[in-house]
Amino acid sequence: MTLPKVRKRGGSRSHSLPRVFRDLELPTERHWQCRVNGTAGAVIRADVLEILGATRDRVADIVFLDPPFNLGKKYSKSDPKLDRRPADEYRSWLFSVLDESARILKPGGALFLYHLPVWAMRCGSYMEGLGLSLHQWIAVSMKNSFVRGPHLYPAHYALLMFTRGKPGHFNRPKLSATRCRHCDDYVKDYGGYLKIIEQKGLNLSDVWDDLSPVRHANRKNRRGNELPVKLFERVIHISGVRGGLYVDPFAGSGTGALCAASAGMRFLVSDLVESSCAVTRQRLGKMILEEGGESANTR
Ligand SMILES: C[S@@+](CC[C@H](N)C(=O)[O-])C[C@H]1O[C@@H](n2cnc3c(N)ncnc32)[C@H](O)[C@@H]1O
Repeated sequence: MTLPKVRKRGGSRSHSLPRVFRDLELPTERHWQCRVNGTAGAVIRADVLEILGATRDRVADIVFLDPPFNLGKKYSKSDPKLDRRPADEYRSWLFSVLDESARILKPGGALFLYHLPVWAMRCGSYMEGLGLSLHQWIAVSMKNSFVRGPHLYPAHYALLMFTRGKPGHFNRPKLSATRCRHCDDYVKDYGGYLKIIEQKGLNLSDVWDDLSPVRHANRKNRRGNELPVKLFERVIHISGVRGGLYVDPFAGSGTGALCAASAGMRFLVSDLVESSCAVTRQRLGKMILEEGGESANTR
């Protein structure tokens, strides 16, 4: 994926490692920084409100939020109740995360929130109150969930894209038309548009039903849940810019950091759980070995 370059005022400046950290006032022993693919990033073990609170106003091009859904998942052995709070407490915590995320978003920047539709609805309304505008509600198809109570089978999660004002960057991804895996013919009839579609691809819609959740143990980078690479690639393709800043404070296994680095974005990713940060560092370390680069703990 090739992103446009960030336009700088006042001449060029290299994206040196300390730039990501310069304005973060956090205990440095939890920082790990690296330079890879011509960009720089940081992995920090921290609580979401701590890391966002330590970040300057209006610096992020993308804030990506994949918070715990409060469904009782065990992210941490030391805090098994991390993902099981009273609903009111969870709501005010999530809204505080949105307050801080909105504060650090640049004009034109995009805030993505991945959540259950009911929480997307509540958070969406709250984000409008913070002066952000809904750009997209993306339905991400997720199979293998469970029917709960008297409802239809829930088959999608919501990926909200809010922006601060008019989006600074918006690239529309193109897809190849889907073919039947048995006969290799197209699954839809595109009529007279087929030639154009074959040449230029299909415009990505706001229903993403082609992403496979990372469920198999041999493909997962940690025991907890993990979003597919393609989802991050799309988010970064849509709203990213080379040299811009990607912030992901619920980074889990760090796929967002890897995709941001591959696209030449600076990144600031964090997670409360040290074992998740270790996985992210390890994956970035592998990328550094393959592509060149360096890493260091800040002291
Ligand atoms: C849904 S998972 C994110 C998965 C991630 N997007 C991925 O693809 O690997 C939520 C993450 O938030 C972390 N987390 C939970 N509470 C947190 C908090 N208060 N501050 C920071 N991270 C937290 C969990 O450890 C978990 O890794």
